[in-house]
Amino acid sequence: MTTLTTLKKFKKDGTKFTCLTCYDAMFARMMDKAQIDTILIGDSLGMVVQGHDSTLPVSVDDMAYHTANVARSNEQALILADLPFMSYTILSDAIANSRKLMQAGAHVIKIEGGRELCELVTTLAQAGTPTCVHLGLTPQSVNVFGGYKVQGRGDEAANKLLDDVKAVVEAGAALILLECVPADLAKMVTQAVSVPVIGIGAGADTDGQVLVMHDMLGMVHGRVPRFVHDFLTDERNTEHSIAGAFALYQQSVREGSFPSEQHKFS
Ligand code: KIV
Repeated sequence: MTTLTTLKKFKKDGTKFTCLTCYDAMFARMMDKAQIDTILIGDSLGMVVQGHDSTLPVSVDDMAYHTANVARSNEQALILADLPFMSYTILSDAIANSRKLMQAGAHVIKIEGGRELCELVTTLAQAGTPTCVHLGLTPQSVNVFGGYKVQGRGDEAANKLLDDVKAVVEAGAALILLECVPADLAKMVTQAVSVPVIGIGAGADTDGQVLVMHDMLGMVHGRVPRFVHDFLTDERNTEHSIAGAFALYQQSVREGSFPSEQHKFS
């Protein structure tokens, strides 16, 4: 069973680890078989399962329902679950909503933001709930960013992101997730902190990699993001199966062949 201690050891040893989003029982079982290290019940389910055009409509009850479905069907992975949009703005709401997701089977709660999350991160850590803080392109803030755009470009933005990461780690964050940031910045952040850093569109030098499951199976609605690779039709997936795609992803991340140059931002 993968734990936070396992991921810390992976970081220390330089062993790259995997994460995939998952929302239901059958895929959770297949990810168990492929020995995917960590699973994220992402609020991306608003887009890939519910058909919304953003993650904003997702509720805490939606997250708890999908977390329970995944958690009862996977024995091996560390399970992360997203607190959805505006469900953690008020501290007492955040605590109650985190409890729901932990009781549904999550091991770690993921929240989006920066240093403004420090009080929440410390409170949850003291209450036995580890957090993963998601920075860079945080999809719940799409309306602030004016679209899904690369973040952390330029010295000022890069320094702010690095300072925010250091602040939340100091406050007790157990994991960091960086989305769509320049690869050099992600490398700098990964080297600057003792906790494992997971990347998506953040280059090859983070400790772990995450992809949305539908994306890596080639099920993309609209433009294919630069950081996505289709493991289902990859010729190395000789079985042409979903199980083969998960296994190939696990192998490619471990051996360092994914992500490659073409998947990164500068
Ligand atoms: O909700 C989600 O799937 C995520 C990933 C994109 C990291 O946050």
